[in-house]
Amino acid sequence: MVKQYEALMGSLGRAMFYRPERQRVRELLSRDSRPKLLINGTEYPIFDVSMNGLSFLTPNGAGVWDIGKTIDLELLLHGEPIYHGTAHVARIEPGPRGARIGVGLMTGFLDLPEIRRRDDQKLLEEQIDNGAADQVDRVPEAFRKKVSEFLHFYQYYRRALDYHERRFRAEGATDHDLQEFAQRAYEALCGPYYQLDREATAVARKFITDRETLVAAKEYTETVLAPLMLDIPFANRAYLKPLGYPGDYQVMLYYYNKSFEGDSVFAKVFHRIGIDHPLAKGVCTRKDFIAELMGREHDRVLAERGDDCVFRVASLGCGPAREVSEYVAERRGWPGTAVFTLIDQEEEALGIAFRACKREIGRFDAPAQLDVLNLSFVQMISEGVPLHDPESQDYVYCTGLFDYIKTRRAQNCALYDLLAPGGLMSVGNAIGPPECWWTAEFLGDWTMIYRTRKEVEELGAMLPDSAVCEVVAEPGNAYFFLNVRKTKAGTCG
Ligand SMILES: C[S@@+](CC[C@H](N)C(=O)[O-])C[C@H]1O[C@@H](n2cnc3c(N)ncnc32)[C@H](O)[C@@H]1O
Repeated sequence: MVKQYEALMGSLGRAMFYRPERQRVRELLSRDSRPKLLINGTEYPIFDVSMNGLSFLTPNGAGVWDIGKTIDLELLLHGEPIYHGTAHVARIEPGPRGARIGVGLMTGFLDLPEIRRRDDQKLLEEQIDNGAADQVDRVPEAFRKKVSEFLHFYQYYRRALDYHERRFRAEGATDHDLQEFAQRAYEALCGPYYQLDREATAVARKFITDRETLVAAKEYTETVLAPLMLDIPFANRAYLKPLGYPGDYQVMLYYYNKSFEGDSVFAKVFHRIGIDHPLAKGVCTRKDFIAELMGREHDRVLAERGDDCVFRVASLGCGPAREVSEYVAERRGWPGTAVFTLIDQEEEALGIAFRACKREIGRFDAPAQLDVLNLSFVQMISEGVPLHDPESQDYVYCTGLFDYIKTRRAQNCALYDLLAPGGLMSVGNAIGPPECWWTAEFLGDWTMIYRTRKEVEELGAMLPDSAVCEVVAEPGNAYFFLNVRKTKAGTCG
């Protein structure tokens, strides 16, 4: 199950006393389990479960729910009762659309491994009983046609490239010869591949109007195509998501490095094609765009505060922070000091960023300090950024994170509050609707929130009137940036 960016927790410590882990129902159980929760005989949408309790949503707010209140609780899966007993209300969390009520069981417990096993058993029965034909029936024919065109494209070129690779090797081809062969094939196939993506995207948009069909179409694509692509390094990492979420630092490094990777010419060519996706190319152009803004802000601070100034920059969801190491390598030196604060929930990403930036700082003896923080956006919202006061940063930016964060959560002032008066904030988001959506969404199971110019503008809805906002597209035209200048001191969070 893919982890949501909003839920990634950073280095939050675990409590000492055992508390059964809570799991989102949609992560624990199959869609077909149709969980039904009855509280005092009335049905409520269930949110998460643990072995000793669960929580549910009440659209009408906290209303009748008081802490300690005893309730009758019945849980059914696949139409069959799996728990019936009493519980007490343990917590009430009011939210924008109602409240979330957490309850503790007073009798027995929810044997989650057993519940999951029973769910899997049901799934097996449904799959064996005509499952393949049912899956086909749920997917529009025009969509299936596009999947089969992709399938043919892959398999045709796998066969052809494998054949010629074997032939060249038998003739004594060098690595350089094989590299030339891969380059030629990549140049020939990239255009047709993305033409197929655009066509499949157009078809999917027409047919995928409801969630059920979207899910069925994704399952169908994953059944037919995904397993054939696992020898392609980019496809493997993007699809399998070994860190639990899409777009991790290794995927970003693939984009930045633009090399041919893989064990065969076929794998190398399709790896290279994969990292030529408009959004992947946009990751590289937005990096240069950010470096340029960073340079301008640096010049502004030098002009305003003189040669002894400290220029402070913070990046949220920094990943490999390639723009910082390149900035140092290109600019090499400056009067005063620059302090780069790199924030990410992923320790592995921070290790890569630390090494790359330290190397360039050391190479040029650049007057720079690096603060590397293993922190999540959620922690930053609730606790601020350790070592850095509110209103301390001259440039704050975030790329590759808001495309996964729902608008309500994204419309938050945590980044703006970090900005010093006069400072600039840049928040990037993939431009919607995308022309090439099919390969990412269906083949890679990589869901993003693509936003229109207006939707990106709306991300700044909670900022004070004095904030000067502008939405601009980066040069690759794949990402919009909400650029916000803080003209007046004060925080709004
Ligand atoms: C798509 S990558 C972008 C990395 C980098 N900004 C770039 O453009 O190369 C997203 C990064 O955000 C990090 N991330 C995801 N959710 C996060 C969260 N809730 N808080 C902090 N970082 C997060 C991931 O670990 C990952 O390194």
